[in-house]
Amino acid sequence: MMKHFLLISLLLCSLPLWSQKELPPIQKKQLALTPPMGWNSWNYFACDINEQLVRDIADAMVSTGMKDAGYEYIVIDDCWQVARDENDRIIEDRERFPSGMKALVDYVHSKGLKFGIYSDAGRKTCQERPGSLGYEEIDARTYAKWGVDYLKYDWCHHGFLSSRKTYPIMGRALAELDHPIVFSVCNWGWSKPWEWAPDFAHLWRTTIDIEPCFDCRGKMVHKSVMQILDKQVGLEKYAGPGQWNDPDMLQVGNGEMTFEENRAHFALWCMLAAPLMAGNDLRNMDKEVLEILTHDELLAINQDKLGKQGYKHTDEGDIEVWVKDLEGGDKAVCVLNRGEEAVDWSLKWNQLLPEGSTTYRVRDVWERKDMGSTTDESYTFQLGVHGVQVVRLVK
Ligand code: GLA
Repeated sequence: MMKHFLLISLLLCSLPLWSQKELPPIQKKQLALTPPMGWNSWNYFACDINEQLVRDIADAMVSTGMKDAGYEYIVIDDCWQVARDENDRIIEDRERFPSGMKALVDYVHSKGLKFGIYSDAGRKTCQERPGSLGYEEIDARTYAKWGVDYLKYDWCHHGFLSSRKTYPIMGRALAELDHPIVFSVCNWGWSKPWEWAPDFAHLWRTTIDIEPCFDCRGKMVHKSVMQILDKQVGLEKYAGPGQWNDPDMLQVGNGEMTFEENRAHFALWCMLAAPLMAGNDLRNMDKEVLEILTHDELLAINQDKLGKQGYKHTDEGDIEVWVKDLEGGDKAVCVLNRGEEAVDWSLKWNQLLPEGSTTYRVRDVWERKDMGSTTDESYTFQLGVHGVQVVRLVK
């Protein structure tokens, strides 16, 4: 009897270890200590992708200075895969990728960049290509063999599966590889991925797809930049080094967005510590779009090592103030004008900073200019229609 009791106790004590083994911790801290930066094919090219395009984009990433600014992943989204072979291995579309995926990954690596790929946790991808359900381990091994560094994992054709239970299967398959792969969960914010995805993923989408328009409410299923921004309120506590809320890829340079709107979209994604996946055609970019995407002081706010996501500090109708705490006690402050008229606006330091706060140097981030200090009563500037002003308070 005693023997049985001991045996059962031993078994029970070993259970936590056993279940931990089922879901090995991912190497997440090292892989995405700051929000991942790169380019993804979907927002501009959708299914119209091929090997030459991806090579040209990788070349442009280098020649435009995007790589030097910190963009590193070249991610191909849906439509690269066509079927499985007799061993269940996923097959790339050889018409569009005649040299095969391995050769393309090698090319991207030869440019000093990393390569990302796309699959789906269900039976099929959103564009009806083969998904990974039931093939998680073999797919993970194939990606590793090709040298893939990043996986975006979608949520179409999942039937009645639960995302909480299904996503960890791929998380585990990736964790068991001897090859590091950043894991990007794309279940559109369904069933609160910020609560469960940090256990095995580096980033997770918080909403359905972003449209290249600033505030075009009610016109479609997808969301405008402003609607997506509204959905981020309250999620800040889930982000940190190695785990990021993903408000979707950038639409900077796409659609009909104005210069001010492109700037606001980019600045807000920097404030949100969002992964920065450019979604435009890097081969043909306006100078002003490139200047926005590579603005060093904005990128420094996004990539700040403290890894804090910015939060909405004040909401005064059309005017919102967002604040992001930075390493070393600095703060980034972003004032957004959602209204249809330009306005003059003053940041009053006694409303923003607690009484007795340290004195900060006030830096206009876009202009890279110091503009006095917080011992002044306020800082006044003009906000264009759908414009932002970004200030860094330097300790
Ligand atoms: C979903 C995702 C998008 C994109 C498409 C591809 O809609 O949310 O980001 O990957 O699928 O089909």
